[in-house]
Amino acid sequence: MGYIQTLVITCIIVLNLSSEIASTTTTKSTGAPPRLRENDPTVESIKVKEGSKLKLRCRALGNPRPYTVWYKDGERLKTRNNDRLKVNKNSLLITQPREEDSGQYSCHRENQFGEAWKNYTLIVKNEKPIVDKNVDCEKVGPPQFKDKGELNEWIARPSQASVDFKCSVCGSPEPNITWYVGDRQINSAVSGGKYKVKRKISLVVEGLTKKDATEYTCVAQNEHGFINHTFELKVIDRVLTKPVIHGPVNQTVTYMDDVKFECKVVMSDLQPHIQWLKHYQVNGSFENENEDPYVHIIQV
Ligand SMILES: *[C@@H]1O[C@H](CO)[C@@H](O)[C@H](O)[C@H]1NC(C)=O
Ligand SMILES: *[C@@H]1O[C@H](CO)[C@@H](O)[C@H](O)[C@H]1NC(C)=O
Ligand SMILES: *[C@@H]1O[C@H](CO)[C@@H](O)[C@H](O)[C@H]1NC(C)=O
Ligand SMILES: *[C@@H]1O[C@H](CO)[C@@H](O)[C@H](O)[C@H]1NC(C)=O
Ligand SMILES: *[C@@H]1O[C@H](CO)[C@@H](O)[C@H](O)[C@H]1NC(C)=O
Repeated sequence: MGYIQTLVITCIIVLNLSSEIASTTTTKSTGAPPRLRENDPTVESIKVKEGSKLKLRCRALGNPRPYTVWYKDGERLKTRNNDRLKVNKNSLLITQPREEDSGQYSCHRENQFGEAWKNYTLIVKNEKPIVDKNVDCEKVGPPQFKDKGELNEWIARPSQASVDFKCSVCGSPEPNITWYVGDRQINSAVSGGKYKVKRKISLVVEGLTKKDATEYTCVAQNEHGFINHTFELKVIDRVLTKPVIHGPVNQTVTYMDDVKFECKVVMSDLQPHIQWLKHYQVNGSFENENEDPYVHIIQV
């Protein structure tokens, strides 16, 4: 006479971001580490003009509700004596942002099961005239940059994102602009796909990968001379991804036999931490009303 029982086993991989946190998870409580929603990149760049209102979001799933700390340029953000800054449940609000608010903002969310970061590079730009006062576009001579302050030396973007390099120039006669990726000239007539030249003054590069991290140069030329500017692109590809795992697989065994479940980590960019959970039913259901599964941690 056989005895049938369904045993549901899940293998959970917790990215072990901090060994301190991992060592405290030996309690038999259940929960989930903080994590950003899918499609929410861990790194973002934001450029705003002075004076507007700005909200840096930091939403994370997790159980229990993760605790939030904001950092600016590596230091804990002080909001007490700054009435333009306000930390809400899932965001940081900056009213009337100023140039000095520019910097790296990091939101750290943590509970006893782990942590998650959401980082922003914020650039607040002073509203300058489109053409620098000292630039006379009508003057006959070599090309000039309309606003030298607009030209960044380097730009960082997460992989998969796109970037827009802009070289606003003027001169008389009107200069022509050519773009280079490294030493290679981009032929704007056949540009398309990866590189797009927009209104001559912009070069857009899409679907960034590490290979695109190089120098980009614009050269503006007329019969009186030429000017150029080189941008350096950095592609940040340190985006936390879910590890890819194989297993465990469903197995049918006879009563009293041993069974072995395997869980192999195929790909992970951090040292993973593996947890085994045993699911159980309450009133015939594997989940409670919040759709959280009923589980016992059987091995941490
Ligand atoms: C986010 O910022 C924190 C603190 O500056 C840093 O430790 C972490 O590596 C950053 N994460 C990413 C993905 O850049
Ligand atoms: C740009 O202008 C210069 C000088 O007028 C000329 O020699 C050059 O061939 C032009 N280049 C393109 C790509 O039109
Ligand atoms: C850019 O200009 C400098 C001189 O100002 C010149 O040495 C360099 O070759 C130029 N680069 C390109 C790509 O034209
Ligand atoms: C294993 O069994 C469970 C419960 O019957 C089912 O939901 C799941 O899809 C099965 N998994 C595989 C890989 O067959
Ligand atoms: C399970 O069902 C019993 C009887 O219907 C009920 O009293 C109990 O609250 C239920 N438990 C849960 C966790 O839903």
